[in-house]
Amino acid sequence: MPETEKKRDYSVRHSAIHGRGVFAARKIRKGKTIIEYRGDRTTWDIASLRPDSDPDNPYHTFIFELSDGRVIDAGVKGNAARWINHSCDPNCITREDEKGRVFIEALHRIPPGEELTYDYRLSYDGRITRKVREAFACRCGMAKCRGTMLLEKKKKKRKAARKK
Ligand SMILES: C[S@@+](CC[C@H](N)C(=O)[O-])C[C@H]1O[C@@H](n2cnc3c(N)ncnc32)[C@H](O)[C@@H]1O
Ligand SMILES: [Zn+2]
Repeated sequence: MPETEKKRDYSVRHSAIHGRGVFAARKIRKGKTIIEYRGDRTTWDIASLRPDSDPDNPYHTFIFELSDGRVIDAGVKGNAARWINHSCDPNCITREDEKGRVFIEALHRIPPGEELTYDYRLSYDGRITRKVREAFACRCGMAKCRGTMLLEKKKKKRKAARKK
C-alpha cells in the first residue's frame, strides 16, 4: 500500500499534559513500532546553537539524545513523533537501533484515544537549581509521577554496616 494510503496508528492534537500531544487513533498492540523519531542528526553543540524550539520557554526541547552522544533535533526535519509528551508511567518506550535510528514502541496494549507517552529521562548539564527543577516539572498526572522530566540520579546508598 502506498505510504499516503496507509492508515496511521496516531493523530496529533491538543494535550492535557502540555501543548500538542500524540494520541492512539486505533487500538495498538503491545510491542508495535508506532513511529520513528525523525529529525536532523547532529551534535549537541550544533543543536544548542539553534533558536529555541519554543520562543516562550528556553527549556522546551525537541532534542533526543543518542547513546553515542549525538542527538536527533526534531526541530529540523522532524515528524509527528516530536509531539509525544513525557510520562513517568508511560505506555511507550523508545528503542535505538544499531544505526542510531530511534523508534517508539507500545509498552503494552494501548486503547484508541489514549495519549502516547514515553519517559524522557532528560539529562541536564549544570547545577539543578530550583528554577531548573521548576522548568522541568512534570505534568503527566500519573499516580507514579516523580515530579520531573529529568532522569533522577540515584543517591549513593549508605553503607549498611560500618567498618569495624
Ligand atoms: C518533544 S516536545 C513534546 C510536544 C509538546 N507538547 C509541544 O507542544 O511542543 C517536549 C516538550 O513538551 C513539554 N512536555 C512534554 N511532556 C511534559 C510533561 N509531562 N510535563 C510538562 N511538560 C511536558 C516540555 O516543554 C518539553 O520540553
Ligand atoms: Zn510525571
